[in-house]
Amino acid sequence: MTPARPALVVAPVGRIPLYDLHRQRARLGGELHRRMDAVFAHGEFILGPEVAELEQRLARFAGVGHAVAVSSGRDALMIALMAMGVKPGDAVFVPAFTFAATAGAVAAIGAIPVFVDVDPATFNMDADDLERAIMETAARGLARPRAVMPVDLYGLPADYQAITAIAERHDLMVLADAAQSFGGAVGGRRVGALAPITATSFYPTKPLGCYGDGGAVLTTDDRLAETVRMIRSHGRAGTGDEAMVLGLTGRLDTLQAAVLLAKLDVFADELARRGEIAARYGAALADVVAVPSIRDGIASALALYTIRVDERDVVHSRLAEVGIGTGRFYRLALHQHPAFKQFDGRRLPVSERLAREVLSLPLHADLTDEEVERVIAAVRQAAG
Ligand SMILES: Cc1ncc(COP(=O)(O)O)c(C=O)c1O
Repeated sequence: MTPARPALVVAPVGRIPLYDLHRQRARLGGELHRRMDAVFAHGEFILGPEVAELEQRLARFAGVGHAVAVSSGRDALMIALMAMGVKPGDAVFVPAFTFAATAGAVAAIGAIPVFVDVDPATFNMDADDLERAIMETAARGLARPRAVMPVDLYGLPADYQAITAIAERHDLMVLADAAQSFGGAVGGRRVGALAPITATSFYPTKPLGCYGDGGAVLTTDDRLAETVRMIRSHGRAGTGDEAMVLGLTGRLDTLQAAVLLAKLDVFADELARRGEIAARYGAALADVVAVPSIRDGIASALALYTIRVDERDVVHSRLAEVGIGTGRFYRLALHQHPAFKQFDGRRLPVSERLAREVLSLPLHADLTDEEVERVIAAVRQAAG
């Protein structure tokens, strides 16, 4: 007998939360449950057939040779850094305006995050400041410049062309922190194929999210992919007992793979709907707030639609009063966090300013046109 399904929980009528996973679950319900029931039936909860199927579909979607499903976005970064051979004491250049996990993954393996300022228009790593940071680090001689880790903030791919050119000049490896941008593209090349190795996250609120923690490492390099596979499973090759390299418990659960397979079926349509809403926000809000600028030929995965406003906290409270949820990602630049002050030392004025100005509006595929218009009217009133 099939057990009764739990009742769907919906947001109170009238409120527009920043995220709404309930609506997507209601829309996909049958397929999600069918996929999960199949896992309960075969019982291979670790590295079951859904994980392999997901990896093939992710690799095909991104246009890369390999996708390796892992336990979270942060673990994807850490495993990728380990596979690349980044060692304790090596310097890894990261943007100062991003989520804590970016620098956290670097510090977790004993490497040194060096913060680079960002471009106020794209929110992504500023290539000129990257070059300065590399020169300063090399001149100080305390850490060996080894890798650069651009972040695709809010879903917008970083400037990989400029960053790769700098990395090549200084003999640095490039790892993309694409935790927020799976589904994005530049000139028709999807995220995953924009850097030699890419880490993404399937945290529930990401554009492609599971119902727990999850992530993936994508690459076309066979040797790197093989090392990533070993590291995610205690350093073992396949099912052998022998630890070939130092590893961790870094696998994606089969149940999460089942959830992601159901969501992948509708992912392209959801990205298109996100794009439509972003275009409407841009057209209707550009005269009152700073809206994100996306260059031609670049597709953002639109993990977040982030505007810049003066008196951001006042606007956030005013919108909350009328039932509209907004996000303040991030209220501190990384070098201002207690955990990362030890790595502080560079001037990062743009990151510090953005931390006071950014405000993310509700944007997901299940937002109705009527709700989009309500958000627009409320933002115009609160920020105007
Ligand atoms: C830029 C960035 N990097 C890394 C991560 C870490 O991903 P996870 O939460 O799946 O560990 C996140 C997630 O929220 C992120 O936004």
